[in-house]
Amino acid sequence: MLFRTSLLHVSVGRALVAAVVLSAFVGANGEVGVAQTAGSARASDAEGERFVDELLQKMTLEEKIGQMSQIALNTPEGPKRDERIVKGQVGSLLFVKDPKEIDRLQHLAMEKSRLHIPLIIGFDVIHGYRTIYPVPIAMAASWDPAVAEKAQTMAAREASAVGVRWTFGPMLDIARDPRWGRMMEGAGEDPYLGSRMAEAQVRGFQGKDVNHIADDHIMACIKHFAGYGAAEGGRDYDSSNISDEQLWNVYLPPFEAGVKAGAGSLMSAYMDLNGVPATGNKWLLTDVLRKKWGFNGFVVSDWDSVKSLATHGFASGPEDAAARAVNAGVDMEMTSTTFFDTLADAVKKGAVSQATIDAAVRDILMAKYRLGLFQQPYVSTGRAENELVSAEQREASRKAAERTAVLLRNEGGLLPLKKGLTSIAVIGPLADSKPDLMGSWSLAAHPEDTVTVVEGLTKRTAAGGPQVLFTKGVEIERVQPSIFDDQFPSPKPTLTTESQREAEFKHAIDLVKRADAAVLVLGEAQTMSGERASRSSLALPGKQQQLLEAAVATGKPVVLVLVNARPLDITWASQHVPAILDAWYPGTEAGNAISDLLFGDAVPGGKLPVTWPRDVGQVPIHYARNLTQIPNDWDTMYWDGSSAPLYAFGYGLSYTSFSVGGLKTSAAKVTAGGTIEVSVDVANAGKVAGDEVVQLYTHQRSGSASRPVRELKGFKRVTLKPGERQTVTLTLETKELGFWSPQTHAWSIEPGTFDLWVGTDSNAKDHTTFEVTPSK
Ligand code: BGC
Repeated sequence: MLFRTSLLHVSVGRALVAAVVLSAFVGANGEVGVAQTAGSARASDAEGERFVDELLQKMTLEEKIGQMSQIALNTPEGPKRDERIVKGQVGSLLFVKDPKEIDRLQHLAMEKSRLHIPLIIGFDVIHGYRTIYPVPIAMAASWDPAVAEKAQTMAAREASAVGVRWTFGPMLDIARDPRWGRMMEGAGEDPYLGSRMAEAQVRGFQGKDVNHIADDHIMACIKHFAGYGAAEGGRDYDSSNISDEQLWNVYLPPFEAGVKAGAGSLMSAYMDLNGVPATGNKWLLTDVLRKKWGFNGFVVSDWDSVKSLATHGFASGPEDAAARAVNAGVDMEMTSTTFFDTLADAVKKGAVSQATIDAAVRDILMAKYRLGLFQQPYVSTGRAENELVSAEQREASRKAAERTAVLLRNEGGLLPLKKGLTSIAVIGPLADSKPDLMGSWSLAAHPEDTVTVVEGLTKRTAAGGPQVLFTKGVEIERVQPSIFDDQFPSPKPTLTTESQREAEFKHAIDLVKRADAAVLVLGEAQTMSGERASRSSLALPGKQQQLLEAAVATGKPVVLVLVNARPLDITWASQHVPAILDAWYPGTEAGNAISDLLFGDAVPGGKLPVTWPRDVGQVPIHYARNLTQIPNDWDTMYWDGSSAPLYAFGYGLSYTSFSVGGLKTSAAKVTAGGTIEVSVDVANAGKVAGDEVVQLYTHQRSGSASRPVRELKGFKRVTLKPGERQTVTLTLETKELGFWSPQTHAWSIEPGTFDLWVGTDSNAKDHTTFEVTPSK
């Protein structure tokens, strides 16, 4: 019989929580195990616990602190790493990519260190390892969790083939301000969509059994806990000030979903959250994460973020920083060395308890156990060769890119391009750029693997398709250098004089004039979105806007293909460019996927996971706002322009058209805790097969707090043949209607009247109401 002591809820620190968890689950036959905790998908693993506890008893304090230290290959620690591994002073390495080197390091750890503890090798496998998949914001635009799950399954296969068994992903930060460059790494603005993408990605990385992660899977690390996406002014690393209401209802739900899906690890964020740096925030890392959600994985800091507790003016110096981080709930320090340098002293002085250290090490060793690293830490030869950029990987990446593209405009049915065209001008600085089409966080990719748009389209010429006339027209450059410049140098301009630039621009427009149609591939270069890639403007960088306007002025049909990971200012384009396809950063198969999409061999079916502003002055912007006292004036809140977004959250077109109607609910009343079945009829009214995403939104009419005007509570992407009609049923779980109330300081489902809309974007019109009645 399992029992849980109430001490769990009153314990004062991390060590006590861990101790209580361990003693709390004592089986009738005396075995000690970690039973499934309230919030976690992880089931009992008594054998692993026993193994780890025995190992822990043999470890010296120095060896324990070693497990809590992660070193990067490219830091000054690098050269000493072999020596440290042998002495048992390293638990993890990040950024090692060479399978032979990983194998050698694991042999060192297993054969030369006293206790033979394997290393856990981490890497940012964000949207692929060697084969690059569409960036995470694009995966969210698929509105199909299966796309994200498949991409991360494939990424895990590649990464594990070289010996990387731990990714720093998925990033679950809600982002409502496109100036923030890391919008690219998450699922956008919505906690419901974000939670579904969180679960899918955790499943994809880790596979089915979170206790025994198979050799071809890797451990997930949900990040950055928490509130990083609310950085003030969209400036990366800047403070986040988030009300409790917004934290509980918007920023934390994807993390809770990730914990419930069984994520094996979590990364603490860099920034100050409401005045306390996240990496020293005990409320976040212990009270919420462990006590409330029952997380039993391990917590790694972000890069140097332990040392930074002193930089923030929070800790008094490195020793205080280390103690505060560990006492808050950080188990492993990434790259900075305050744990290694000071924790032993801190334990001697009593600033950190031995029990706290043990709890941290236990969680790290359990992660290694769950990955099977104690049994098989080595890199099997041949796997990498077979797996890296294999045909199967490429095919999966291409399919993902096709399912993530969003068609924003298609006046006069310009797309798909007619097969009879004799020539197309392909113009733009991103059209033939291999690194740029991959997007940021492609650190293990080889740019030469990428198929560019020019290459993808040119393949069609050989098969009787139009001749491709390419030139870039303009160049774009970052004003500030990128932190990834050493890895992927930002392209240096080759057009160095004004007359060269003018000649190139003119050449591009001449090609547009000569061709039957033009495809302009514009947007942001690889390092313009991502970490430390925030912007103060959303304009197309450089002279791309002028190029676009000049191309349109020729009178030729122009298609704009956007390469981006945040909404850009395309307000002019939305009025003057007949077709706009948002391809995001599509990855290795960019050119093949875009070619398929442009010619109708694939039909766009993605939807926006973010509200698209008209102007940077509107941000932050999101659809799930609260009503104001003048609700009908919402779109006219600025006297100098519209306050309505350019494109709504959930918006996206297809090459076919759909009708949605016949909204039905299974009941007009539901008890809190129950479910309602919501169905609509969807029909493909066009001539080609295509996808539609049925979206369900609700609104609570009154209660203990104002609630958003609409909130997404369900969705389903369906494929329909021409003329096909399907009844799509979504299950609305009333637990999704619950929220944390700033009045009651508690989470509950409040009885009352709710509006419900179903449709194909967040402006869905089909409406009904239902009542939630109190549960008995
Ligand atoms: C980022 C993390 C990343 C880590 C390791 C940090 O700068 O914030 O998201 O996982 O570096 O690359």
